[in-house]
Amino acid sequence: MNKELNDKLILITGASSGIGRGLAKRLCRNGYNLILTSRSNEKLSQLKDELSDFSEKIHLIACDLTNSDDIENLYKKTVAIGFVECIVSNAGLGRFSSIDKMSVDDWDIQINTNLRPSFLLAKLFVGQMKKNKTGHLIFINSVAGKYGHSFSNSTAYVSSKYALKGFADSLRTELRDYSVKVSSIYPGAIDTEFWDAINVDFARHEMLSIDDLSETILHVIEAPNSSVIEDVVVRRTAGDF
Ligand SMILES: NC(=O)c1ccc[n+]([C@@H]2O[C@H](COP(=O)([O-])OP(=O)(O)OC[C@H]3O[C@@H](n4cnc5c(N)ncnc54)[C@H](OP(=O)(O)O)[C@@H]3O)[C@@H](O)[C@H]2O)c1
Repeated sequence: MNKELNDKLILITGASSGIGRGLAKRLCRNGYNLILTSRSNEKLSQLKDELSDFSEKIHLIACDLTNSDDIENLYKKTVAIGFVECIVSNAGLGRFSSIDKMSVDDWDIQINTNLRPSFLLAKLFVGQMKKNKTGHLIFINSVAGKYGHSFSNSTAYVSSKYALKGFADSLRTELRDYSVKVSSIYPGAIDTEFWDAINVDFARHEMLSIDDLSETILHVIEAPNSSVIEDVVVRRTAGDF
């Protein structure tokens, strides 16, 4: 275990469930200091209880990422904890329907959850990273953010993820001179709570596993020295559903 790497403080959004939760568990095992956030204090506390062996290294901050004031408050609380060297922008949701049936609320909530918080968080946290000449922003995108033509009834989700790709690509260029790394992960379907409320007949047990994806994200976080893993597509060997 590389001590220097594992003294890092990492912020994970959407840590109460699915990928964020699994990643938090995986990063604990490698000794990282974590700030875990989501709206549900209760679910975050349950996770911390499960990870009681690591509790000194885990900080919980509840935050609704659709609320700018909440994000500002999250930022202020993290400053009191320490320098956040890596942010995994993971929180997100999908609402799938044909364009004529999609409500404006469904459109707005996907943009406001899957895209806007990544901008607001980067805006707040990048200053210290630039000053320290180190940092890493990791965006959990989706194959939907790369191959929109493959997904019907998904215009808002695909739009939010394509915009997130553009945001990350442009930001990467902007931050190169400051040694701040930017990575995007594009997973196929993963068996998480994301699918609980979605009416599709995909075989959940055939989806990618949270644990396998977490290994890939860990590998991205641990890219050594001045190397950065910029884009990773992770799909089932059998391809998308
Ligand atoms: N599952 C898949 O097949 C799949 C595939 C490709 C990409 N992804 C992407 O992976 C990311 C994580 O998805 P998942 O599958 O792990 O879904 P999930 O199990 O439903 O988890 C979503 C997380 O986002 C948080 N969240 C949602 N709205 C929020 C808000 N307004 N403020 C703060 N936190 C909020 C939720 O926490 P609270 O409810 O506690 O707030 C939860 O922790 C998403 O960006 C998704 O688009 C998923």
